Amino acid sequence: MALYHSVLDLIGDTPLVDVSALSPNPGVRILAKLEGQNPGGSVKDRAAKAMMEEAEKEGRLVPGSVVLESSSGNTGIALAMICRIKGYRLTVVLPENVSTERRQLLEVWGADIVTSPGAEGSNGALRAAQELAAEHPDWLFPYQYGNPANPKAHYEGTGPEIWRDCPEVTHFVAGLGTAGTLMGVGRFLKERNPDVQLWAVEPPAGEMVDGLRNLDDGFVPPVFTDNDGPALLDRKMIVRARESIEWTRRLSDVGVFAGMSSGSAMAAAVKGAEQLDEGVMVVLAADGGWKYLSTGAWTADLDDVVDRATRLIYF
Ligand SMILES: Cc1ncc(COP(=O)(O)O)c(C=O)c1O
Repeated sequence: MALYHSVLDLIGDTPLVDVSALSPNPGVRILAKLEGQNPGGSVKDRAAKAMMEEAEKEGRLVPGSVVLESSSGNTGIALAMICRIKGYRLTVVLPENVSTERRQLLEVWGADIVTSPGAEGSNGALRAAQELAAEHPDWLFPYQYGNPANPKAHYEGTGPEIWRDCPEVTHFVAGLGTAGTLMGVGRFLKERNPDVQLWAVEPPAGEMVDGLRNLDDGFVPPVFTDNDGPALLDRKMIVRARESIEWTRRLSDVGVFAGMSSGSAMAAAVKGAEQLDEGVMVVLAADGGWKYLSTGAWTADLDDVVDRATRLIYF
């Protein structure tokens, strides 16, 4: 076991674990990349660290700086942890209907929280943050939806890790939020092997599934367009809240305690696996299940959880 100088050095290098016991097709292996093992608890530690380091390099972050972000969860939490370690103040704009644990975690790290109307979801939080940024030009607004350091963190980290651990990968399946994960990993893997298929997982348009976004809902992240997303993606899979929760539960059958977007990605992988002769799929499990416990996702009646999922933002 190595000695680490900072918790920041623990970000990345997450495990890839075989969950093929859940594959409906003996010819298709399914491997889950467990991003919940990052110290802040999600894949977003990677992008947050990269965006902060880039801003420091460019001299836009100096001791005492204020950082601003709109996030219904994981990016805010990751930035809050990193700002606490590095000594910056952080203001997070959060829709009022996010799960309790998300707010509590931000409080743990000492972030200032500004709420935006729940009905406006993460797009409303983003608009409110853009207004605050305009009022405070001296604050650093990393803007994860358009910051090149976000996909770069995955091009330089997540992608190479997957290639190192599983060069036989045929498919990469992940939820789409900012598109940073899909664009960075996708670009890296396709440079190594152009036959690798890149599948994005989205909720149906108009449906609020644990924060994943449907590109037809009115906002296409610049990270997606700047990286030639339409050409890079091979397939978009639509997964509903019910399937996401069902597959979040199924993941626990193999000991993976993950959040709802991991269930979405698994549901998509399993659907796709049924249509293939053979393959090796890598599925991104973006975070652990801890932050979702209050939703009853594993234990409550499935219909009730699905109903709540349409009203509450889980991440
Ligand atoms: C739990 C979870 N899953 C998936 C995603 C999507 O990741 P990305 O923003 O890299 O597209 C996010 C980020 O918003 C997330 O918090």
